[in-house]
Order: sequence, then structure tokens, then C-alpha cells
Amino acid sequence: MKIGLIASEATPFAKTGGLADVAAALGKYLNLAGHDARLILPLYAQVQRSHSGLQRVAHLQDIAVALGPHRYRFDGWTARLPGAEATVYLLDCPALYARSGLYTQDADEHLRFLALTRAAFACFQRLGFAPDILHCNDWHTAFGPLFLRASHARDPLFARTRSVLTIHNLGFQGTFAASEADALDLGTRSHLLDPGDLRTGYVNALRHGILYADAVTTVSPTYAREICTDARGMGLQETLRQRGDALVGILNGVDYHEWDPRVDPWLPLHFDPARLGTKAELKGRFLARMGLIAGARTPLLGIVSRFTAQKGLDLLFDPLPELLASRDALLVALGSGESLYEEFFAGLQQRFPGRVAFHRGYSDELAHWIEAASDIFLMPSQYEPCGLNQMYSLRYGTVPIVHRTGGLADSVQLYDPATGSGTGIVFDHFDAPAMRWALATALDLYAQPDTWEHIMRNGMAQDFSWEKQIGEYVRLYERLIS
Ligand code: ADP
Ligand code: GLC
Repeated sequence: MKIGLIASEATPFAKTGGLADVAAALGKYLNLAGHDARLILPLYAQVQRSHSGLQRVAHLQDIAVALGPHRYRFDGWTARLPGAEATVYLLDCPALYARSGLYTQDADEHLRFLALTRAAFACFQRLGFAPDILHCNDWHTAFGPLFLRASHARDPLFARTRSVLTIHNLGFQGTFAASEADALDLGTRSHLLDPGDLRTGYVNALRHGILYADAVTTVSPTYAREICTDARGMGLQETLRQRGDALVGILNGVDYHEWDPRVDPWLPLHFDPARLGTKAELKGRFLARMGLIAGARTPLLGIVSRFTAQKGLDLLFDPLPELLASRDALLVALGSGESLYEEFFAGLQQRFPGRVAFHRGYSDELAHWIEAASDIFLMPSQYEPCGLNQMYSLRYGTVPIVHRTGGLADSVQLYDPATGSGTGIVFDHFDAPAMRWALATALDLYAQPDTWEHIMRNGMAQDFSWEKQIGEYVRLYERLIS
């Protein structure tokens, strides 16, 4: 099959979160499964041009894109995804992508990604690439399915193209003022815009993707059910329910060439269930580097997160300092975002010198080290479409504490002392008492070395590989084009 993927980020080119890991993995593992996947991305100013082996594509120069009154010019570059032959096209348009971050609060934020989506079609036309599947991701590219119907209905290149929208996070919907709708250039097909949206005065990009994609996926089966409820649908539950069976949940996979302690390229030493001593050695080196002081058996708790309300860090505000004050435990946290969370971790570091290390910012290297060196990984997300770090943690023998929601519920099982089954600590209620229970339970289990090692081994034996998960997408694509 020929698959045209469009996304706003993908590793190793541009990343703020899990979407980047998943967009790259889709390209890579579709290619490894024998399909011709092409991935379209913006060439942000932040993309390291020398490092990624970028090459200018002669016939993708000077692509004109009009969004109503707005005019843009794109130049296409290409690169290979590491570990596969899949081709990435990075579309350069400094007027749109030379900004201080990948995402902005600027007034033209919707135009930055509408233009990307339009430019993707133009690219496929210039390349003579007739995709069987157009696979869009999140609000940024959610107008792809509607553009396919409205603007490319008569183009023979796309005559057989079916569309898929994957929702990675319902929390971002890409709404813009209906007065800007002429930027969509729908011409005589303007009636395809959702009348409900137009009445409210705001066009919701994600809603239009949900309405017009041939299939809508989200990144875990539990999240697929949750987003159809009033409690978790974030205003789109009705639209999602309308799509019935066209909405499916496919759990994300893990790229174990990147995230496995056997081969992790960021680690100086490697381990597996037969070499757990090496994990302890890595922990020792890491503690020394971070200036943390441990006793003979002091557990290290790790956090790697985007600091937003979604990630449930509010739950730690009281229980975590209480725990640090009353029990033998260390904490390392990596992340940045909303200031109340940054201040919380900075405050803990000040209050518990030698016991808490907070690194404000983004660091691939530290993220890998935290997965490898920690004993316990904290991921109390309020909601979590899939979540990758808990799955990474399992492979590194780092026992996750998670809230039973979305992909966390689908990938971590509560340890049951009666049967010895389970891979982590899962709490049901999103409140401080549940968080206290989860932390205390983890520390009590950690104090029993044999039991703890058993839980670690249960987790390390889990297989969330993309080699397995990609088959779910392939079967979905096959159903759509048959
Ligand atoms: P989300 O996409 O909602 O942030 P996921 O768990 O799906 O959550 O994916 C997060 C990804 O981003 C993981 O690969 C994680 O290691 C990475 N990540 C998050 N914050 C940081 C950070 N501060 N530094 C490095 N990597 C980070
Ligand atoms: C989003 C979600 C996260 C998911 C990731 C990749 O950022 O918040 O749960 O794992 O996308 O699909």
C-alpha cells in the first residue's frame, strides 16, 4: 500500500511529546512491513539541518499554497527515517515555521497547519504519489479528509484514496474564528462545514476530521470508549458517537530499538532481566551525577513529563512532600511547562537537598537515563490517550504508578500479591488519598526485594512492540480500501 502520513512532529526531527514518537514509528514500521509510507512534516527552524542529512528535492521547490487571501511558498526537503527506508518530506516555509517553538499562541496558528495540509496534497501531486491511505494526526492536519472530498474529489491521483484521522489528544482541537473560514478555500463545498460550529462562531478542526475521515482512530481502546462519554468527550462526544464503528482504539507501540535497556543508545551499560545488577550500577552512577544521596536500599522515583494539567501532577502536591518527609525515598523529575508545576518541583528540590533533583527543560538523554535508573515511575495522568513513558518504564524494570485511565489502564496491571501477576500500581480515583495509597503501596513492595524483583520481571516481559501493533493499522487500511 501507499500511505501518505501528515503530522506536526516526528522524531528525530522535531518533538514535544509522544506524537513525535508515534508519527515516526508509523512511517518506519509501515515501511518495514513492506509498504510505501511517506511522511510530511513542517521544516521548523528548530530542525537541525546538518545533523539530519536533509536534501533539497528539485521538483518540490516553490510550491504555492493559497489559503483564501493568504499566500505561502514551500520548498521541499527530504530525509530518511532512522532504521528504515521510509521517506520524510520536510516542507520549508520560514514565514510559518521560523518561530520560537514548534507550536505558538500566534494569531495565525491555524494557518500554519492548514497550509501544511494543503502543501502535502501539492507534494503528492508533484511526486505523482497516489496514496491508498491519507493518514492525518491530531487537529493540525485534521482538515485532510475534508480537503480530499471537497478540493480533490475530481483529481484522478486521489480517486481511490481513503482517509484516516488519529486522535492523539482530544485536549487540543484547533478552533479558530468562523470569520476565518475562507482560508479553507472550500468554494462550492462550503456547506460541508459543520453548521453547529458556524452557529457558535468557531470552526473546530478536530471535529471536521472526525466527521469526514473514513476511519477515526485513537491511541488506546480505553480512550476510544472514554471520549464517547460526556465526562471525557471534551465537547466532541456527540460527533464521536455519531461515527459508531468507524472509531477504533489502537494501542501505541514502542520502538524497542530506541527504548530497551538491552540496546539503549543513550546508556553506557546495558541490561536485561538476567543482568539486573547493571541497572543498579546505572542507578548508582546517575545518583552521583545528580547529586542524590541514597542509603543501602533507597528507592528512586522518576518523572518525565510535559507539565500540563493533563499529567495529573496536582495529585502530588501534598502526598509527595509528605512521603519525602516521612520515608526513605529519592525523586528525580524532568520536564517543563506550566509554572505552578515547575515551582512545585523547584520547591521540593530546595526543601529536600540531596534527595530531590529537578531538571527544568527537555532532554532526550536525561529521559532515557531516568527510565533506566529509577525504581518507580510516576504517571498519575488525569487523562491519558495512550502514554508512552509507562510502557518504556516496564521494559526498563522501572515499576510504574499510574491512574486507571486511557492507555495507562490498557498497559499496566495492578500487582496482585495473591497470584503474583501484575506489572505496576494502578489507582482508581483521581484524588490525593488514592495517590497516597499508591505511593505507600509501592514503597512497601519495594521494601520486599524478592517481590519487587518479581514485579520488575513481570513488566520487563511485556511486549508492546510496534512490530506487533503496526499490524492493526495495516488491517484497518486494508479494510478501508477493499
Ligand atoms: P505526551 O505525548 O502526552 O507528552 P507520552 O507519554 O505519549 O505523553 O509521550 C511523551 C514523550 O515525550 C516520551 O517519549 C517522553 O520521553 C518524552 N518527553 C516528555 N517530556 C520530556 C522532557 N522534558 N524531556 C525529554 N523527553 C520528554
Ligand atoms: C498524545 C497523548 C499521549 C499519547 C501520544 C502519542 O500526546 O497525550 O497519551 O501517547 O499523543 O499518541
